Amino acid sequence: MKGVILAGGLGTRLYPLTHVTNKHLLPVFNKPMIFYPIDTLVSAGITDILIVTSGPHVGHFLGVLKNGKELGVKHLEYAYQEKPDGGIADALSLAEDFADGHSIAVILGDNTTDADISTSADSFKSGAMIFLKKVPDPHRFGVAYLDKNNSKKIAKIVEKPKDGLSDLAITGLYMFDNNVFDFTRKCDPGWAGRGELEITQVVDFYLKEGQLAWEELRGFWSDAGTFDSLYKAGSYWAKKHSSSKK
Ligand code: DAU
Repeated sequence: MKGVILAGGLGTRLYPLTHVTNKHLLPVFNKPMIFYPIDTLVSAGITDILIVTSGPHVGHFLGVLKNGKELGVKHLEYAYQEKPDGGIADALSLAEDFADGHSIAVILGDNTTDADISTSADSFKSGAMIFLKKVPDPHRFGVAYLDKNNSKKIAKIVEKPKDGLSDLAITGLYMFDNNVFDFTRKCDPGWAGRGELEITQVVDFYLKEGQLAWEELRGFWSDAGTFDSLYKAGSYWAKKHSSSKK
């Protein structure tokens, strides 16, 4: 399995910080944000990694990550998303050549977690796998609604729901077989009303084909794309760091 980290977008919710550099290079405690998804992939044995990025500061990635060797990456590639706010599925579509027929583990570049996804990666065969996590603020995320008669099954998924009927956020970690690129081509920018190609619609295509599995993400998880979540993520990693030294 190969790994893809989506680090495009403009990071407008973090202005003025993102006038200085790309969102994914901002510090989360003692490391640039993008080190966290890289660590998650490398810890799962996924060391062939593509980073998709965009915006005015793309050159900064090379200076920070170089060839990725210091982080345990064996092969690091970069792709450039021409339309920086084209949406997550637009960024994902750029991974087709890199994937070269393989399955991929995808992580959004502003997600940090200490969950171990190695077992899921090792056992992944086909379809799509998403990782769900209970959250107090589901309106900020893509959300899954479980089937009332069979909680192993997802009944529907919605991007940024308003109804508050499910608190199961779709975290920004996904595994897809190579059909994912047929689905990114079918995405419609109006699907969630944001004018972007949504990864949640890609997941919805798998759901409709009966090819979607899910697991609970065990461990800490947070995005870091707003001031509150950036602070929350940094505080968690700082506490974890100091308790590991005791
Ligand atoms: O954090 C998990 C959530 O991430 C999911 O629950 C949602 O379903 C998913 O849509 C996403 O929601 P956000 O609204 O938080 O996505 P955001 O626009 O902040 O983008 C998250 C990352 O995706 C960002 O750090 C970089 C990448 N991205 C985003 C866009 C819009 C790209 O690579 N290209 C893009 O055009």
